[in-house]
Amino acid sequence: MNIKLAVMASGRGSNFEALVHAARTGRLHAAICMLVCDQPNAPVCSIARSYDIPVISFDEQTAGKIRAAGCNLIALAGFMRIVSPEFVRQFPGRILNIHPSLLPRFRGLHAQRQALEHHETIAGCTVHVVNSEVDSGTVIAQRVVFIKPGDTEESLSARILKEEHKLYAEAIQHYSGWLS
Ligand code: GRF
Repeated sequence: MNIKLAVMASGRGSNFEALVHAARTGRLHAAICMLVCDQPNAPVCSIARSYDIPVISFDEQTAGKIRAAGCNLIALAGFMRIVSPEFVRQFPGRILNIHPSLLPRFRGLHAQRQALEHHETIAGCTVHVVNSEVDSGTVIAQRVVFIKPGDTEESLSARILKEEHKLYAEAIQHYSGWLS
């Protein structure tokens, strides 16, 4: 399948930028058609504009705009809203998310902090299909990151983020092979 990807993000945008790089360097065979952002002043919007990728706001028209642009896959990348069941129903099996834990461990916010608080020895990141419950759809890829003695939420998050940047493009590429 030729991937036409819409990315939905709210903040910093490092995963968005990693996907753009992967697409531009041929590691991900995808056209990134648009960024959907619910925060007009978020850094991710400036990143998109710097690559001439259209930015659209998040409202009731969003699903229609994604379809009108011919996008066949949606990647949530730090999108800080829960997408509604109606939205999910319109793109069955076509919405992916990346989460900074080894799901099903540590759903929701501050997953890295949760891993430290539970004295885990491993953490990591997960790419999964989005369903109508938070961080609970089918897992399609995971990567383990070892927790080191003395790790803080910041140091662990930074190491996981590095892996996220590689994993998301790989997972999207792999998953698209299963779609028609
Ligand atoms: C990442 O840790 C991602 O796993 C989570 O939100 C964060 C987004 O970071 N869903 P960024 O905006 O991509 O830098």
